[in-house]
Amino acid sequence: MKFRSRLVVNLDHLAYNINQIKKLSPQSNILFMIKADGYGHGMIPIGRFAITELGIREFGCATLGEALKLREELNELEFDIYVFSDIQLELLENADIYLKRRIMPVISNVSELDYILHTPEFKNFPICLKFNTGMNRLGLDVNDTPLIVNKLKQHGRSSVHHLISHYANASSDMNDHKINVIQRSSFEEIKKFFRDSGITLERTSQSNSGAIEQKTGLHEISGDTHLRPGLMVYGPSSINADVTGHFKGKLVSTLETYILRVFEVKKGEVVGYNSTPCPEDGLIAILAIGYGDGFFNRYSGAHLYHKGFEGVIIGRVSMDMTHIFFPKEAVNHIKAHEIFTIWGGVPGDLQKFSSETKTIPYELFCALLPRVPRVYRLN
Ligand SMILES: Cc1ncc(COP(=O)(O)O)c(C=O)c1O
Repeated sequence: MKFRSRLVVNLDHLAYNINQIKKLSPQSNILFMIKADGYGHGMIPIGRFAITELGIREFGCATLGEALKLREELNELEFDIYVFSDIQLELLENADIYLKRRIMPVISNVSELDYILHTPEFKNFPICLKFNTGMNRLGLDVNDTPLIVNKLKQHGRSSVHHLISHYANASSDMNDHKINVIQRSSFEEIKKFFRDSGITLERTSQSNSGAIEQKTGLHEISGDTHLRPGLMVYGPSSINADVTGHFKGKLVSTLETYILRVFEVKKGEVVGYNSTPCPEDGLIAILAIGYGDGFFNRYSGAHLYHKGFEGVIIGRVSMDMTHIFFPKEAVNHIKAHEIFTIWGGVPGDLQKFSSETKTIPYELFCALLPRVPRVYRLN
């Protein structure tokens, strides 16, 4: 069977990006965010490659289900998994999973901490704490730091396995954006309080891609042991255009589809659902991709490129097909049965598509549905 639309995942580029991060901060450890099916790239193959070829030993998932899948499918390999958001600690049966499958919940409220501290089976279990330093999503309240430290001490806990916080504005300047500055110093204060209280912090981390790109939270500078990159490992930058970055990643994915049919059209001739009129004489290429693949109707109006011609997604995107309108100069150049690259063909095309469609690269990646096979390339 020949797949028409596919996401080609270039593992050499993934290795390049990880090595770039290691070069930025040779002493930092990497906790690789692999949630949402490896940001749509395929969590299992990406995880296996990262462990066996790149020496990554720690991964971040969002849900217990993702973590369990990673553990089961890569059972023969040695690595740690953190569950960051949907930890489901309130369901008793999950305690067994955490304990037996060596998965670590990241605790972000006091009742979860109480549960861990009061459950005998978790007596020696590593404690990972995430503080809300300004993101206002999940996270322990900074004002509860003394209370938390007391609770740990009362239960004979003298160390925290990993102390975590997360930036809300890492795409903005880390030194200029007020909330970034507050978050950084708040995390420093929390770390100090723990240490001054005699609690050892085995691992600490705060920086995701945008911060890492700006050299914030590198071990050499901040003393944090870990970085938690997600997007940058898959290639795109996550900082705003006006912010100075120190990372130039290689896009890991190429989204390819196939031209099912081409036909010439006259100005005003209508195409597809809702009969959208063509703006001028030109050429229509029908691509074998649609919202059934995670390529949405709201992408209509965005530009795509083929053989040097600029086309535009015209009219309503169908479930399995998309109409691209090209100027008449493309007639006899663009042909049926050709492979058509949506992103990953030329530098910057993903960012351009993402800004035209008012999406973010995170969203474009994660939107791709299982009907688009992930195909792995390694030289
Ligand atoms: C807690 C946490 N750390 C790190 C990351 C990685 O972020 P990014 O993909 O921007 O590097 C995420 C992603 O959302 C996250 O939730």
